[in-house]
Amino acid sequence: MSNAQTWDPERYARHARFVADLGMPVVELLAPQPGERLLDLGCGDGALTEKLVAMGCRVVGVDGSAEQITAARARGLDAQVMDGEHLTFEDEFDAVFSNAALHWMQPADDVIAGVWRALKPGGRFVAECGGHGCVAKIRAALDTALRRRGIDAARVNPWYFPTTDDYSARLRARDFTISSMALIPRPTPLPGDITGWLETFAESFTTALPATARAAFLDEVREALRPELCDAEGQWTADYTRLRFAAHKPQRRVA
Ligand code: BEZ
Repeated sequence: MSNAQTWDPERYARHARFVADLGMPVVELLAPQPGERLLDLGCGDGALTEKLVAMGCRVVGVDGSAEQITAARARGLDAQVMDGEHLTFEDEFDAVFSNAALHWMQPADDVIAGVWRALKPGGRFVAECGGHGCVAKIRAALDTALRRRGIDAARVNPWYFPTTDDYSARLRARDFTISSMALIPRPTPLPGDITGWLETFAESFTTALPATARAAFLDEVREALRPELCDAEGQWTADYTRLRFAAHKPQRRVA
C-alpha cells in the first residue's frame, strides 16, 4: 500500500465542502461542552474545527497536510501539522474528535494508541470515517481500469474502511469502552462531476499512471460509473458508508 494523496485547499473547497457540511451528526454525538479542550484529528482546512470553537470549545487541530494546516490557520485556528499515526499529546484532552479522516490513517492501532495517550482519564473518542463497503462501486471501477493497465489497485489503495467488529476489537484492545458504534450507508450527492471527486480523493490511484495516461483513465472510470452513480438529471452521488462511534477512556482508578 502506498499513499500519493496530496491536498490542495482550493480544490478541496470546490469539490469536498460537503465533507464538513455533513459532519453535524458526529458533532452531535460528541456533544461538545463550552470550555472543553478538544483535539480535532485530521482537521483538514478547519471548516468543522471552526464550528467546535464557535460552540465555546478550546480546540487544537492536527492534520498530516501542511497545505490544509495553512488553510486552517488562515481561519485563526490553533492547528499544527501532525500525522494521526504519530500523535505526541499526553493526558491533555477532554475529547478527541475526528470526521472523515481515520480511513486515511494506518496502522489503525497506532492511531488508537495515540488517541488514548492524548485523552485525559474519562475522556472520549468520537469519530466518523468511511466504513466497510464505503465507495465500493468507485473502488471497483478504479480497480478494473487499473488492472486493464497492468496495475494491482491494492498496491496503491490508501483507504481503510473497517467493519464495526474490526474497529470495536481494536478500541477494546486499548481498553476503550464503546458506547456507540454504527455502520451507516449514506449515499452522498456530489457538487459536480465524479471526475472532481476522483481528482480530489483518488490521487493515489491516478498517479500510479504516467501523467499522459491519466485523463483517459479518469474518463474510463467516469463512464464505467455513470450508469450506477449518475441519475437522468446528471446528478452524481458517491456510494459512501460511514462508521460512526463514541468510545471512552476509563477514569483512573483510586487505589
Ligand atoms: C469518505 O469520507 O468516506 C471518503 C473520502 C474519500 C475517499 C473515500 C472515502
